[in-house]
Amino acid sequence: MEIMTVGADVDLTDATLVVGVLAENQPVPGAEEALAGADPVMLELAKFEGKGGQVLTLPHDRAKSVLFVGLGEEAGFESIRSAMGNAIRMVKTERAVTNLNQIPIEGAVQAVVEGAALGAYQFRAYKTEGEPLPITSLELIGAEESTIAQVLVTTEATNLARDWVNTPALDLAPETLADRIRTEAEAAGVSVEVWGYDRIVEEKLGALLGVAAGSDRPPRVVILEYRPDDAVAHLGLVGKGITFDSGGLSLKTAPLMEEMKDDMAGAAVVSATTIAIARLGLPVRVTAVIPLTDNAVGGRATRPGDILRPVSGPTIEVLNTDAEGRLILADGLGLVRRHEPDLIVDVATLTGAARVALGDKIAAVFASDSEVASTVLEAAARAGEHFWEMPLFRDYKKSIESDLADLKNVSGSRYGGAITAALFLSSYVDDSKWAHLDIAGPARWRETAGEQVKGASGVGVRTLVELARGLVDQPKSGTVS
Ligand code: BES
Ligand code: ZN
Ligand code: ZN
Repeated sequence: MEIMTVGADVDLTDATLVVGVLAENQPVPGAEEALAGADPVMLELAKFEGKGGQVLTLPHDRAKSVLFVGLGEEAGFESIRSAMGNAIRMVKTERAVTNLNQIPIEGAVQAVVEGAALGAYQFRAYKTEGEPLPITSLELIGAEESTIAQVLVTTEATNLARDWVNTPALDLAPETLADRIRTEAEAAGVSVEVWGYDRIVEEKLGALLGVAAGSDRPPRVVILEYRPDDAVAHLGLVGKGITFDSGGLSLKTAPLMEEMKDDMAGAAVVSATTIAIARLGLPVRVTAVIPLTDNAVGGRATRPGDILRPVSGPTIEVLNTDAEGRLILADGLGLVRRHEPDLIVDVATLTGAARVALGDKIAAVFASDSEVASTVLEAAARAGEHFWEMPLFRDYKKSIESDLADLKNVSGSRYGGAITAALFLSSYVDDSKWAHLDIAGPARWRETAGEQVKGASGVGVRTLVELARGLVDQPKSGTVS
């Protein structure tokens, strides 16, 4: 679907006109005419009251039809984005035209474009039946072309991450994902290095090798570098790239394994973010380290009790092979630190405990200090993604001390699992400024609503792009102008 700007005199004859309506059928500015022209009996019959989430199509005298979208009590960024997401899937024509972007709130264009571009997402690679959405162009009356283009960079990156995460593990071995990341990153002007098995051995990434040991599909490490001449900051990213998490010898139960192709969402998010930052040309240097491996069961698989030696930092007694994300991140963090970034952010579907604590729609943030935490939380708020800070409570560190090695990879208690995992990671960043995003809950949307489409979410991309913008010290509003 193309998203573009048009003038107010646009021809509507074959188009769907998308119009916003507030609760109790109050028209938003610009919608008066369309609403006045709507048959009150039809509105009554459809029980259309402009509530958030409501959508109604009616005949129209100038357009093919008019699609009323409910915005609820207030036309704000979130309600517009969500309404647009719902509307875009209802359009039955090839063209849709809207003036929702003209609602006088900050970031209205951004909300319309995000809602449409994210809400229209479909993953049809394996579908032989059904049709893609009919809409091929969305036209925003009087919008700034460059604003649309900028927003699309981030939505396209989000949808790219969604494609990777939605792809079954069968077709996404570490090697395949590395190739796909390479293709997209190089096209965006990002330099790419991919380490194969021999190089990983040579570099002594003992924790990654320990996780990879049970799989016939060899691991990879992808290193992305975006180095603009005018860089004012250097961001280090690390993404958990478990292409399938069976749990290893500490095998998961069948229900818990069902969604474990998602376990490379962190890798997808940091790769897509780096690509977006490069395409936007932000003056931020980015170094992204992406360790990729299956966590499989096999004759050579790492056993509980085995001790692994990451590239740097504490040795690890593996007591549960299902706590594998923190192992590959230990190596990833060790590698990214060599590049001496100003701030390190890792992204991982790390713990079921984060999902238990915050549910399916909120990601956990842990940070080395409160300033870093605020930087991430403020970026998330500007991006419209939901993150919540969790404590790096040092007392719990004792629970991951090992009798034989420096650390063990599980605490032995079910409680506070997201915190002990984060404390484990903190042992590999020393005194670097660092944030850890546990996206185990919101890596996947569980139902379709607004801009959220059931399946991989790409959550984290928008926040990290916004974080990079913040490092350049753009206006705090975070809206693109
Ligand atoms: N990949 C999982 C975490 C996960 C769970 C992600 C649910 C998405 C949805 C991770 O590798 C894992 O298995 N963690 C264990 C850790 C435990 C053994 C300490 C968990 O959370 O159960
Ligand atoms: Zn696991
Ligand atoms: Zn995992």
